[in-house]
Amino acid sequence: MRLTDNTVLEMDSHKKSFLSPLAGEENSSSPAERLYGRNKGHPLRKRQQWLLEHTLPLLRVDLETARKNPLHIFDPPSTSIWMEVGFGSGEHSLAQYKTHPEVGYIACEVFLNGVCSLLSQITENVQEHDILSSSLPKTLKLWDKDARILLDALPDETVEKFFLLFPDPWPKSRHAKRRFVHPDRIRRVARILQPGGIWRIASDDPTYQDWVKTVMKDQSLFELTFFSEHHPENWPKTRYEIKALKAGRKPLFWEYTKR
Ligand SMILES: C[S@@+](CC[C@H](N)C(=O)[O-])C[C@H]1O[C@@H](n2cnc3c(N)ncnc32)[C@H](O)[C@@H]1O
Repeated sequence: MRLTDNTVLEMDSHKKSFLSPLAGEENSSSPAERLYGRNKGHPLRKRQQWLLEHTLPLLRVDLETARKNPLHIFDPPSTSIWMEVGFGSGEHSLAQYKTHPEVGYIACEVFLNGVCSLLSQITENVQEHDILSSSLPKTLKLWDKDARILLDALPDETVEKFFLLFPDPWPKSRHAKRRFVHPDRIRRVARILQPGGIWRIASDDPTYQDWVKTVMKDQSLFELTFFSEHHPENWPKTRYEIKALKAGRKPLFWEYTKR
Protein backbone atom coordinates (compact mmCIF):
# COMPACT_ATOMS: atom_id res chain seq x y z
CA MET A 1 0.00 0.00 0.00
CA ARG A 2 1.21 3.46 -0.79
CA LEU A 3 1.59 6.62 1.14
CA THR A 4 0.47 9.45 -1.01
CA ASP A 5 0.31 13.24 -1.03
CA ASN A 6 -2.11 15.25 1.05
CA THR A 7 -4.71 14.24 -1.42
CA VAL A 8 -4.41 10.53 -1.82
CA LEU A 9 -3.30 7.36 -0.15
CA GLU A 10 -3.22 4.22 -2.23
CA MET A 11 -2.34 0.60 -1.81
CA ASP A 12 0.30 -0.93 -4.03
CA SER A 13 -0.52 -2.79 -7.15
CA HIS A 14 -0.46 -6.31 -5.75
CA LYS A 15 -3.46 -5.47 -3.62
CA LYS A 16 -6.86 -5.01 -5.24
CA SER A 17 -8.11 -1.54 -4.77
CA PHE A 18 -11.00 0.14 -3.14
CA LEU A 19 -11.75 3.82 -2.80
CA SER A 20 -12.64 5.34 0.47
CA PRO A 21 -12.55 9.12 0.39
CA LEU A 22 -11.98 10.78 3.73
CA ALA A 23 -14.88 13.11 4.25
CA GLY A 24 -14.91 16.84 3.62
CA GLU A 25 -11.25 17.73 3.48
CA GLU A 26 -11.27 19.59 0.22
CA ASN A 27 -9.49 22.89 0.01
CA SER A 28 -8.69 25.26 -2.78
CA SER A 29 -5.15 23.99 -3.33
CA SER A 30 -5.72 20.26 -3.23
CA PRO A 31 -8.44 17.72 -3.93
CA ALA A 32 -10.08 15.88 -1.03
CA GLU A 33 -7.69 13.77 1.01
CA ARG A 34 -8.39 10.18 0.14
CA LEU A 35 -7.50 6.71 1.13
CA TYR A 36 -7.17 4.40 -1.85
CA GLY A 37 -6.65 0.70 -1.58
CA ARG A 38 -7.68 -2.30 0.38
CA ASN A 39 -7.69 -2.06 4.12
CA LYS A 40 -7.97 -5.84 4.38
CA GLY A 41 -6.17 -8.70 2.64
CA HIS A 42 -6.86 -12.37 3.27
CA PRO A 43 -9.90 -13.08 5.47
CA LEU A 44 -9.28 -12.56 9.16
CA ARG A 45 -9.22 -15.57 11.44
CA LYS A 46 -11.51 -15.72 14.46
CA ARG A 47 -8.79 -14.71 16.91
CA GLN A 48 -7.73 -11.83 14.67
CA GLN A 49 -11.29 -10.56 14.58
CA TRP A 50 -11.45 -10.89 18.34
CA LEU A 51 -8.20 -8.92 18.71
CA LEU A 52 -9.50 -6.16 16.48
CA GLU A 53 -12.73 -5.97 18.41
CA HIS A 54 -11.43 -6.29 21.96
CA THR A 55 -7.70 -5.57 22.08
CA LEU A 56 -7.26 -2.83 19.49
CA PRO A 57 -9.57 -0.41 21.39
CA LEU A 58 -7.36 -0.82 24.46
CA LEU A 59 -4.30 0.22 22.46
CA ARG A 60 -5.80 2.76 20.07
CA VAL A 61 -4.63 6.38 20.33
CA ASP A 62 -7.31 8.61 21.80
CA LEU A 63 -7.46 11.41 19.25
CA GLU A 64 -8.78 14.07 21.61
CA THR A 65 -6.03 13.39 24.13
CA ALA A 66 -3.51 13.36 21.31
CA ARG A 67 -4.73 16.78 20.22
CA LYS A 68 -4.37 18.26 23.69
CA ASN A 69 -1.44 16.45 25.22
CA PRO A 70 -0.11 13.46 23.32
CA LEU A 71 2.19 12.44 26.17
CA HIS A 72 -1.00 11.56 28.05
CA ILE A 73 -2.20 8.97 25.55
CA PHE A 74 0.20 6.73 27.47
CA ASP A 75 -0.49 5.60 31.02
CA PRO A 76 1.66 6.57 32.83
CA PRO A 77 2.29 9.60 30.60
CA SER A 78 5.37 9.34 28.47
CA THR A 79 8.19 11.84 28.29
CA SER A 80 8.85 11.50 24.57
CA ILE A 81 7.02 10.29 21.48
CA TRP A 82 8.20 8.40 18.41
CA MET A 83 5.82 7.80 15.52
CA GLU A 84 5.89 5.31 12.65
CA VAL A 85 3.70 5.58 9.57
CA GLY A 86 2.80 2.39 7.71
CA PHE A 87 4.27 -0.21 10.06
CA GLY A 88 3.25 -3.10 7.79
CA SER A 89 3.42 -6.22 9.94
CA GLY A 90 4.94 -4.31 12.84
CA GLU A 91 8.48 -5.73 13.05
CA HIS A 92 10.11 -2.31 13.32
CA SER A 93 7.53 -0.88 15.75
CA LEU A 94 7.81 -3.87 18.05
CA ALA A 95 11.58 -3.87 18.02
CA GLN A 96 11.74 -0.13 18.73
CA TYR A 97 9.17 -0.20 21.50
CA LYS A 98 10.94 -3.12 23.19
CA THR A 99 14.38 -1.54 22.89
CA HIS A 100 13.23 1.89 24.07
CA PRO A 101 10.87 1.44 27.02
CA GLU A 102 11.40 5.09 27.92
CA VAL A 103 9.64 6.19 24.71
CA GLY A 104 5.93 6.39 23.93
CA TYR A 105 5.67 4.74 20.51
CA ILE A 106 2.78 5.47 18.14
CA ALA A 107 2.48 2.88 15.39
CA CYS A 108 0.18 3.75 12.46
CA GLU A 109 -1.16 1.31 9.90
CA VAL A 110 -4.39 1.20 7.93
CA PHE A 111 -4.03 -2.33 6.60
CA LEU A 112 -6.07 -4.48 8.98
CA ASN A 113 -4.06 -7.64 8.43
CA GLY A 114 -0.96 -5.69 9.42
CA VAL A 115 -2.67 -4.38 12.54
CA CYS A 116 -3.72 -7.96 13.37
CA SER A 117 -0.20 -9.18 12.85
CA LEU A 118 1.12 -6.69 15.39
CA LEU A 119 -1.72 -7.44 17.83
CA SER A 120 -1.03 -11.17 17.50
CA GLN A 121 2.65 -10.68 18.28
CA ILE A 122 1.85 -8.60 21.35
CA THR A 123 -0.61 -11.16 22.68
CA GLU A 124 1.19 -14.33 21.62
CA ASN A 125 0.44 -17.28 23.92
CA VAL A 126 -2.10 -15.27 25.94
CA GLN A 127 -5.62 -16.65 26.19
CA GLU A 128 -8.30 -14.22 25.03
CA HIS A 129 -9.85 -13.84 28.49
CA ASP A 130 -6.41 -12.96 29.89
CA ILE A 131 -5.85 -10.09 27.44
CA LEU A 132 -6.58 -7.08 29.61
CA SER A 133 -5.29 -3.52 29.63
CA SER A 134 -2.91 -4.50 32.38
CA SER A 135 -1.32 -7.24 30.27
CA LEU A 136 -0.75 -4.99 27.23
CA PRO A 137 2.26 -2.78 26.49
CA LYS A 138 2.15 0.54 28.31
CA THR A 139 4.40 2.40 25.91
CA LEU A 140 2.92 1.33 22.58
CA LYS A 141 -0.18 2.84 21.00
CA LEU A 142 -1.77 2.04 17.67
CA TRP A 143 -3.48 4.25 15.13
CA ASP A 144 -5.43 2.22 12.60
CA LYS A 145 -6.74 5.06 10.45
CA ASP A 146 -4.97 7.23 7.91
CA ALA A 147 -1.85 8.46 9.70
CA ARG A 148 -2.32 11.91 8.22
CA ILE A 149 -5.34 12.43 10.47
CA LEU A 150 -3.19 11.90 13.54
CA LEU A 151 -0.29 13.80 12.01
CA ASP A 152 -2.47 16.87 11.66
CA ALA A 153 -4.07 16.45 15.09
CA LEU A 154 -0.82 16.38 17.04
CA PRO A 155 0.32 19.69 18.54
CA ASP A 156 3.43 21.42 17.20
CA GLU A 157 6.82 20.02 18.15
CA THR A 158 5.61 17.03 20.14
CA VAL A 159 7.32 14.14 18.34
CA GLU A 160 10.98 13.27 18.73
CA LYS A 161 11.36 10.72 15.93
CA PHE A 162 9.33 9.90 12.85
CA PHE A 163 9.76 6.71 10.81
CA LEU A 164 8.72 6.15 7.20
CA LEU A 165 10.09 2.81 6.07
CA PHE A 166 9.61 1.52 2.57
CA PRO A 167 6.59 3.61 1.60
CA ASP A 168 5.06 2.61 -1.71
CA PRO A 169 7.06 4.28 -4.44
CA TRP A 170 4.48 5.37 -6.98
CA PRO A 171 7.06 5.11 -9.73
CA LYS A 172 4.95 6.71 -12.45
CA SER A 173 5.69 10.42 -12.59
CA ARG A 174 2.01 11.25 -12.90
CA HIS A 175 1.60 9.70 -9.43
CA ALA A 176 4.49 11.59 -7.88
CA LYS A 177 2.15 13.73 -5.78
CA ARG A 178 0.97 10.56 -4.08
CA ARG A 179 4.38 9.86 -2.58
CA PHE A 180 4.54 10.53 1.13
CA VAL A 181 7.82 12.37 0.75
CA HIS A 182 6.44 15.47 -0.85
CA PRO A 183 6.70 19.19 0.01
CA ASP A 184 3.26 19.17 1.62
CA ARG A 185 4.03 16.20 3.90
CA ILE A 186 7.49 17.53 4.64
CA ARG A 187 5.88 20.62 6.15
CA ARG A 188 3.37 18.51 8.08
CA VAL A 189 6.02 16.21 9.50
CA ALA A 190 8.24 19.19 10.34
CA ARG A 191 5.41 20.83 12.27
CA ILE A 192 5.02 17.95 14.73
CA LEU A 193 8.73 17.24 15.13
CA GLN A 194 10.70 18.91 17.86
CA PRO A 195 13.67 21.02 16.76
CA GLY A 196 16.47 18.49 16.42
CA GLY A 197 13.85 15.78 15.87
CA ILE A 198 14.68 12.95 13.51
CA TRP A 199 12.90 11.71 10.40
CA ARG A 200 14.10 8.32 9.16
CA ILE A 201 13.26 7.23 5.63
CA ALA A 202 14.14 4.02 3.82
CA SER A 203 13.31 2.97 0.29
CA ASP A 204 14.33 0.22 -2.11
CA ASP A 205 12.81 1.78 -5.21
CA PRO A 206 15.24 3.64 -7.51
CA THR A 207 12.62 6.19 -8.58
CA TYR A 208 11.64 6.90 -5.00
CA GLN A 209 15.29 7.03 -3.96
CA ASP A 210 16.02 9.74 -6.55
CA TRP A 211 12.85 11.49 -5.54
CA VAL A 212 13.80 11.58 -1.86
CA LYS A 213 17.20 13.00 -2.72
CA THR A 214 15.73 15.71 -4.95
CA VAL A 215 12.76 16.72 -2.85
CA MET A 216 14.66 16.74 0.42
CA LYS A 217 17.50 18.73 -1.15
CA ASP A 218 15.00 21.31 -2.22
CA GLN A 219 13.67 22.14 1.24
CA SER A 220 15.09 23.96 4.24
CA LEU A 221 13.14 22.44 7.14
CA PHE A 222 15.38 19.37 7.47
CA GLU A 223 19.09 18.77 7.24
CA LEU A 224 20.47 15.44 6.02
CA THR A 225 22.43 14.06 8.97
CA PHE A 226 22.85 10.43 7.93
CA PHE A 227 22.79 8.45 4.72
CA SER A 228 23.70 4.85 4.02
CA GLU A 229 23.61 2.32 1.23
CA HIS A 230 23.94 -0.42 3.83
CA HIS A 231 21.55 -1.45 6.54
CA PRO A 232 22.27 0.75 9.57
CA GLU A 233 22.78 -1.18 12.78
CA ASN A 234 20.07 0.31 14.94
CA TRP A 235 17.35 0.24 12.26
CA PRO A 236 15.26 -2.90 12.92
CA LYS A 237 14.61 -4.67 9.61
CA THR A 238 11.11 -4.67 8.18
CA ARG A 239 9.36 -7.30 6.10
CA TYR A 240 9.59 -5.09 2.99
CA GLU A 241 13.28 -4.61 3.44
CA ILE A 242 13.84 -8.36 3.65
CA LYS A 243 11.70 -8.87 0.54
CA ALA A 244 13.64 -6.15 -1.28
CA LEU A 245 17.00 -7.69 -0.40
CA LYS A 246 15.84 -11.14 -1.51
CA ALA A 247 14.73 -9.65 -4.82
CA GLY A 248 18.16 -8.07 -5.29
CA ARG A 249 17.06 -4.48 -4.75
CA LYS A 250 19.30 -2.07 -2.89
CA PRO A 251 17.63 -0.15 -0.08
CA LEU A 252 18.87 3.30 0.88
CA PHE A 253 18.55 4.84 4.33
CA TRP A 254 18.30 8.50 5.27
CA GLU A 255 18.10 10.36 8.52
CA TYR A 256 17.00 13.98 8.42
CA THR A 257 17.18 16.30 11.40
CA LYS A 258 14.69 19.09 11.83
CA ARG A 259 16.40 22.45 11.94
C1 LIG B 1 5.07 -0.83 1.36
S1 LIG B 1 4.32 -1.05 2.91
C2 LIG B 1 5.73 -1.05 4.00
C3 LIG B 1 5.39 -1.63 5.33
C4 LIG B 1 6.52 -1.60 6.36
N1 LIG B 1 6.95 -0.25 6.64
C5 LIG B 1 7.69 -2.43 5.89
O1 LIG B 1 8.73 -1.83 5.55
O2 LIG B 1 7.56 -3.67 5.87
C6 LIG B 1 3.60 0.53 3.26
C7 LIG B 1 2.56 0.47 4.36
O3 LIG B 1 2.11 1.77 4.63
C8 LIG B 1 0.74 1.69 4.99
N2 LIG B 1 0.17 3.01 4.80
C9 LIG B 1 0.16 3.68 3.64
N3 LIG B 1 -0.40 4.88 3.82
C10 LIG B 1 -0.74 4.96 5.12
C11 LIG B 1 -1.36 5.98 5.89
N4 LIG B 1 -1.71 7.14 5.35
N5 LIG B 1 -1.58 5.74 7.19
C12 LIG B 1 -1.20 4.57 7.74
N6 LIG B 1 -0.61 3.59 7.05
C13 LIG B 1 -0.38 3.78 5.76
C14 LIG B 1 0.19 0.63 4.10
O4 LIG B 1 -1.01 0.06 4.56
C15 LIG B 1 1.33 -0.36 4.02
O5 LIG B 1 1.17 -1.40 4.95
